[in-house]
Amino acid sequence: MEKNFKLELIQLFPTPLLSIKYEENFDEELKFIKNIDYKRINGDQTEYFNIQSSDTFLLDKKDLLNIRVFIEKSLEIYCKEVYHYSSKLIITQSWANKSGKGQKHHSHIHPNSIVSGVFYFQMDENLPPIQFKRDASDNLSLDIDKFNNFNSSTFILPVKNGELIIFPSTLEHSVPPNTSDKERISLSFNTFTQNSLGSIDSLTYLPLQRCL
Ligand SMILES: [Fe+2]
Repeated sequence: MEKNFKLELIQLFPTPLLSIKYEENFDEELKFIKNIDYKRINGDQTEYFNIQSSDTFLLDKKDLLNIRVFIEKSLEIYCKEVYHYSSKLIITQSWANKSGKGQKHHSHIHPNSIVSGVFYFQMDENLPPIQFKRDASDNLSLDIDKFNNFNSSTFILPVKNGELIIFPSTLEHSVPPNTSDKERISLSFNTFTQNSLGSIDSLTYLPLQRCL
């Protein structure tokens, strides 16, 4: 470090990801998630990709009410801490994902959603983490000595059983192939607001009630 320089590296627009642990027992909910109907996705390459619950409104089920209440409280915390937005985010679709040995989740974002989340029903240190990708518009590939928040293009987040993560729906993510004999089981969901968006004065007003 130069002796006479006073340096400060400021991270201008960080990506907010909230992690919250569910402290209650969820054995019954796990049993429910394991026994619902699943469908294959991704056409012919199904052996390489995760399977998905046929029901994509799972959090409407009374068997998952406790988990839903926990997720809704966590969404309120996210809105308050990140956006300083007091209105409620509504859970739209919610579905379960299972990946067996050799299966992965393709890289994707969640369109038509404000924030998305994942609750981990069956997870341990031998199962693959979730991997986030930086916006593709920053496409420099340098020979980097040490990775940090400024120069990394991916972020691997280890997650625990019973953990909930909430992040912007535009943040691209994927899951590497499962090398364990155990199934990786998670539940994903999307959200939107019930209230109008924007403001009349700035010409960004989106009156959702008029769209119904
Ligand atoms: Fe996802």
